[in-house]
Amino acid sequence: MANPRRTTLQLHNGDGLNPSSILPLSSSSSCSPHQPAFISSLLTFFRRPHAFPILLFIFVLLTWLALRFQHHPQLLLSPSSPSLALTRQLGIADIATNSIRFSALDFPSKIARDRRGWLLDPVSAARAAGIQGGAQSCASVHVGEIRPGGVRGNHRHHTCNETFIIWGAVTKFRLENTHNENKAYAEVTVGEDEVAITASPSGTAHALINIDRERTTFFLGCQDNVIDYNASSTDFNIWKNI
Ligand SMILES: *[C@@H]1O[C@H](CO)[C@@H](O)[C@H](O)[C@H]1NC(C)=O
Ligand SMILES: *[C@@H]1O[C@H](CO)[C@@H](O)[C@H](O)[C@H]1NC(C)=O
Repeated sequence: MANPRRTTLQLHNGDGLNPSSILPLSSSSSCSPHQPAFISSLLTFFRRPHAFPILLFIFVLLTWLALRFQHHPQLLLSPSSPSLALTRQLGIADIATNSIRFSALDFPSKIARDRRGWLLDPVSAARAAGIQGGAQSCASVHVGEIRPGGVRGNHRHHTCNETFIIWGAVTKFRLENTHNENKAYAEVTVGEDEVAITASPSGTAHALINIDRERTTFFLGCQDNVIDYNASSTDFNIWKNI
């Protein structure tokens, strides 16, 4: 908070800046002489230089609130959304990408029952989270990493359903859209401290994109069929822009 203090000092020192010219709120007071006393005294207050830090605080507070709800948009979307503590317990669901995200740090939670950290079975965890279209058993399993800037997937399997667990870095999961016909795909961003469970039903394209600057994404993919990559059972390079 060094900047506001310096600005306030400049205003007090009277270096030529007219406070009313930099506080747009005050300019409206002169156009309406019939304002209630409360509003005009409020406007008089805000016109004073010492109101600047307060305005700045309100601005910072509003920015913080805006960013916070941008990070958890579904908290706003769902009127019946559970409290934040409960949301952490249940995980944050993203219907468009058929996924749910849990905090990797919170304890206790659905995926961390003790202080050792999280542990889950991909098949039963996806089922318990209500995720549809995943693998009901793992006929083949892939475990791997994606270094910063790397992409995996970007393909569409026609002969298997796949359940993914993603963690370790800020990662985008893109899923071909089956819910909204107007859009080709939906995306969710998995935070560095989150664990995501998601599923790509047979015939839907998916991609995992590490958008973290430093951290490596880790993932597990459970498929309910062994894929023959020679056969035309998989379409590759679905999206050109990743
Ligand atoms: C995928 O899921 C669907 C519906 O749950 C099921 O009918 C199908 O047998 C599963 N496996 C494959 C390989 O498609
Ligand atoms: C794919 O095809 C090549 C030759 O066309 C063959 O050598 C290889 O064994 C096949 N792989 C699978 C998994 O069928």
